[in-house]
Amino acid sequence: MTSPKKLKKKKYTKRYSICVVGAGHVGLVAAACFAELNHKVVCVDSDEHRIQSLKKKKLPFYEPELEPLVKKNIKSGNLSFSSALGEGIKKSEVIFLAVGTPPQVDGSADLSSVENVARIVARNLDSYKLIVEKSTVPVKTGRKVKEAIHRYKKSNVDFDVASNPEFLREGKAVYDFFYPDRIVVGVESKRAENILKDIYASLKTPLIVTDINTAELIKHASNSFLATKISFINVVSHICDLAGADVEKVSLAMGLDKRIGKEFLQAGIGYGGSCFPKDVAAFIYIAKKLGYELNLLKEVENINKEQWIRFVEKVKEHLWILRDKKIAILGLSFKPDTDDMRCAPSVNIIESFINEGAHLILFDPQAQNQAKKIFKTSSKLKFSQDPYSAVKDCDCLCFLTEWDQFHKLDFKKIKKLMHYPFIADGRNMFDGDALRKLEFDYIGMGKL
Ligand code: UDX
Repeated sequence: MTSPKKLKKKKYTKRYSICVVGAGHVGLVAAACFAELNHKVVCVDSDEHRIQSLKKKKLPFYEPELEPLVKKNIKSGNLSFSSALGEGIKKSEVIFLAVGTPPQVDGSADLSSVENVARIVARNLDSYKLIVEKSTVPVKTGRKVKEAIHRYKKSNVDFDVASNPEFLREGKAVYDFFYPDRIVVGVESKRAENILKDIYASLKTPLIVTDINTAELIKHASNSFLATKISFINVVSHICDLAGADVEKVSLAMGLDKRIGKEFLQAGIGYGGSCFPKDVAAFIYIAKKLGYELNLLKEVENINKEQWIRFVEKVKEHLWILRDKKIAILGLSFKPDTDDMRCAPSVNIIESFINEGAHLILFDPQAQNQAKKIFKTSSKLKFSQDPYSAVKDCDCLCFLTEWDQFHKLDFKKIKKLMHYPFIADGRNMFDGDALRKLEFDYIGMGKL
């Protein structure tokens, strides 16, 4: 269990009553973790079905370590679930907004859920409350939330708005909550600052206090920088392919320079997920609104798209014609340890293979059910219950997510099962030479 044992022994400055609005990845993790920090938490979501399932301790998505934390804190009485937002607001002093801010066609974030919650907060403002944005929102949203609450509130009760952007990674969200690199709080009053400091008092990490606009911007700047780092190494991987060099060694050597750092230098088929694609697009939009064309990030997006296209081209170059070729896909989620398929590069790759007339057999340790919502089983596309049945009689085996368990596969067995032993490694997971020794044809992304 990730939550540090020491936390339990610590004296809490104050136990807060917290309402987390939104039971998605951000909201549910935050709610369970705040409860583990001994606050009294109600997690509210308008999706009645989701709330009923959560009351029965059934989680709507896979996230390591979350289920035991939810169960434990329901049992202790620290965590409850409800669809009655007004009530949740009334009985809480601090309200965290963790509702969805999905991208619109122009890249801007749809803030209608944030605005809706702000109105409901205003109507239920019966004592001082601190309203904290946790969802990723464009700079200046805090100001809008404040204006909306002022506009709709009925009494003269005092309130504060703050920003506390979330940096949790899917698959490591519980760990990231308890061991963050930093906590950012954007506030306008000492009262709000002290409440947020109190809430996080037992986490030993730097807490950066800023104004609200700056806190909002930190989130977009951080995610856009990380996406840029990935696109940078992906471009280098392309050049490595052209020059016959090895991107793995390049990123190893680059990463040892402390100013660069080794994280996020893993070349592959590009970034996906619910954050990077959305946040990069939103940052471009925000900058444009402010009067600046963020061409740097537009290129980051272009490079990211080129990566999965390059992967498809590489497979085609090897197999020549894809029509009626049998291709096994291992790994579907946008990254390991999650069942999340949002913006997963696997989706574009699979669609391209289908359009070329290939037959596909898909397997993922966790994302199979999510993938079935995107791809319907047909004569051209099937799901397999295990990796070995997936590769049977295949002309090509593609690895699209670097799940740990794929490292334990028996490649001698796989070689015997395949029709033609060709591995296309979209995540540079494997030692190409070791596989070539087993007489596989092997290609990676910018890898020798
Ligand atoms: C990200 C941020 O890391 C997190 O701080 C923020 O709160 C939400 O967005 P997440 O989307 O869960 O988290 O995943 P992350 O681990 O950051 O990976 C994002 C994508 O980049 C994945 O598709 C991953 O495969 C890809 N990636 C990551 C690379 O292609 N190369 C790398 O070196 C690192």
